[in-house]
Amino acid sequence: MQLTWLGHSCVLLSGTKKILVDPFIEGAHVAITDPDIVAVTHGHEDHMGETVALAKKTVAITEIAKYLMAKGIPAEGMNIGGTITVDGVTFTMTQALHSAWIEEAGIGCNGGAAAGFVIGLDGVKVYHAGDTALFSDMKLIGELYHPDVALLPIGGRYTMGTSEAMMAANFIGAKTVIPIHYNTWDKIKADPVRFKKALERTTDIRVKILKPGESMKIEAE
Ligand code: NI
Ligand code: MN
Repeated sequence: MQLTWLGHSCVLLSGTKKILVDPFIEGAHVAITDPDIVAVTHGHEDHMGETVALAKKTVAITEIAKYLMAKGIPAEGMNIGGTITVDGVTFTMTQALHSAWIEEAGIGCNGGAAAGFVIGLDGVKVYHAGDTALFSDMKLIGELYHPDVALLPIGGRYTMGTSEAMMAANFIGAKTVIPIHYNTWDKIKADPVRFKKALERTTDIRVKILKPGESMKIEAE
């Protein structure tokens, strides 16, 4: 399986299926995505992004799924703690400590709750934390689902910063951590190199810093 970071929280998983998470896509990268399935962690516009425009099969919390279905988009609604299989890909929806309003054209509506996903594709499990604070039940995500890779926000202000993300990485126990949701704007400035050095000095976890548009291969264990 190949994982491509498209900037901010947007990640493309490519294998037997292509899954695009949080399609807030910077212009230059739109062309490389032709997802089979879109997954949205929560209603904020920097995560919903191009979800409506893409109009693909979309996995999201029930409130967002209903919102999308009203727009004619084939959505698969679920909720925190549940697991579904869509076209052979498993989606477990995980807790996130964050707010969840849906925003569109200055009008808001209830987006249910913010969430994350553990996505199982081709024998690899990827945990996308969404926007979240640190919470100790991340240990359960590690114990129950054993993700190979964890995508963790490190930008602070709206989510964990680097010191909380270090503890999150320890709780989850994935071998590889990829920092996301940082340096998109000045308000979420973070130093991924310092994060990498600090985590790798104290643990066996490896931090992979990707440039927007950059990919890495992830092998099944
Ligand atoms: Ni958010
Ligand atoms: Mn966000």
